[in-house]
Amino acid sequence: MIEIVDVETLDGSKRSIQIESETSQRIDANGLTLLPARIDPHVHFRVPGAEYKEDWRSAAKAAIAGGVSMVFDMPNNTPNCTSVSALQSKRAIIDRQLAEVGIPLQYGLYLGAEHGHLHEIDAAPDHAVGIKVFMGSSTGTLLVDDDVSLDEVFTRAAKQGLVVSVHAEDEAMVQARSRQLASETQPDVHSRIRNPEAAAVAVTKAIALAERHGTKLCVLHVSSAQELKLLRSAKARGVDVFVEATPHHLFLDTSAYAKWGNHVKVNPPLRDATDRKALWEAIADGTVDMIGSDHAPHTQEEKKQPYTSAPAGIAGVELTLPLLLDACHQGQLSLKRLVQLTHDNIESIFALPASDDWVLVDRNLVRTVKDEDLETKCGWSPYAGMTLTGWPVAMILQGKYIEIGAKECLITH
Ligand code: DOR
Ligand code: ZN
Repeated sequence: MIEIVDVETLDGSKRSIQIESETSQRIDANGLTLLPARIDPHVHFRVPGAEYKEDWRSAAKAAIAGGVSMVFDMPNNTPNCTSVSALQSKRAIIDRQLAEVGIPLQYGLYLGAEHGHLHEIDAAPDHAVGIKVFMGSSTGTLLVDDDVSLDEVFTRAAKQGLVVSVHAEDEAMVQARSRQLASETQPDVHSRIRNPEAAAVAVTKAIALAERHGTKLCVLHVSSAQELKLLRSAKARGVDVFVEATPHHLFLDTSAYAKWGNHVKVNPPLRDATDRKALWEAIADGTVDMIGSDHAPHTQEEKKQPYTSAPAGIAGVELTLPLLLDACHQGQLSLKRLVQLTHDNIESIFALPASDDWVLVDRNLVRTVKDEDLETKCGWSPYAGMTLTGWPVAMILQGKYIEIGAKECLITH
């Protein structure tokens, strides 16, 4: 049994909490707050195929540093994860890597939708947390942009009671804008190529498919006022649709290109300050259901290439919670809403069994983000230099008490 003594809980009261464990420990948690551990419904941990950017050893340490107990990993791998057998092989590698670092990180895997493999959806419920559809192309080769295949994905998933999670950007519109703006080489062109209109067209299509077939739909990394308007009205007429927002769309906007260039190239791209404000309003009014980091690590060398070659993506698994705790500190978010967005709603949308995984946070700890403190293998973050108030300091994961250090995570038995 782990006994957490004198800890503040979500309702503001101070208590002693007991958590099932094989070990016997008493933790003096005076000054700390106990929250359900964060579930990250959207990560790219790069196995198999791009282990030089991340693997599950480094990613598990990064997850712990970020107070994360469970992740859902995306299928844009090499080879792509588009079959049950690919899911099984991926699971075997992950389990080996997690065992090596002794971190019992919980995880679910997405099956990638791909033309020629759509029958795999029928066998997916026992193996996948949902079906990922790239309606617009991004990192890797996954893409479903023809209406017949999209219809088939939504029909098959609905029959299996599986969630369909979409990367909603219209491929044809993005390609056309890319040709129009081909002479521009500065990274900020990215936000004009992949404009909110391209996202809105894809979101409209996804909502219509979910409505027609009764599919449970998650629209990932929603970033613009236009998408939010469509999603608000779909929710109001009872469509089974849920909305994810990412930390980079909440904490960064197009002004970040001046300092970070391609390092903040991401799909969908950063939006302007008006869209960012709209996203915070959607957090407040309940339109946004969950926060996913969309942890998408790439190396500095890759990001330093010219605009057209530099890959899109930003790492975020370990800094999402500190960023959100800092937003709480600044009065932009309540702690209750934070827990809904990072735990409760995700548990309910994906019908996860209730867990007993927790994170202890020091809401008053002030720390500046430094690249050298990061656990992610890519080793850099566009949040470096930001001073944040509120950090996770320990986790209770599957009955294990794990302290979070600035660099190493220490497992005590
Ligand atoms: O910016 C992105 N990076 N968006 C995606 O959709 C994929 C991700 C990645 O895997 O790098
Ligand atoms: Zn993603």
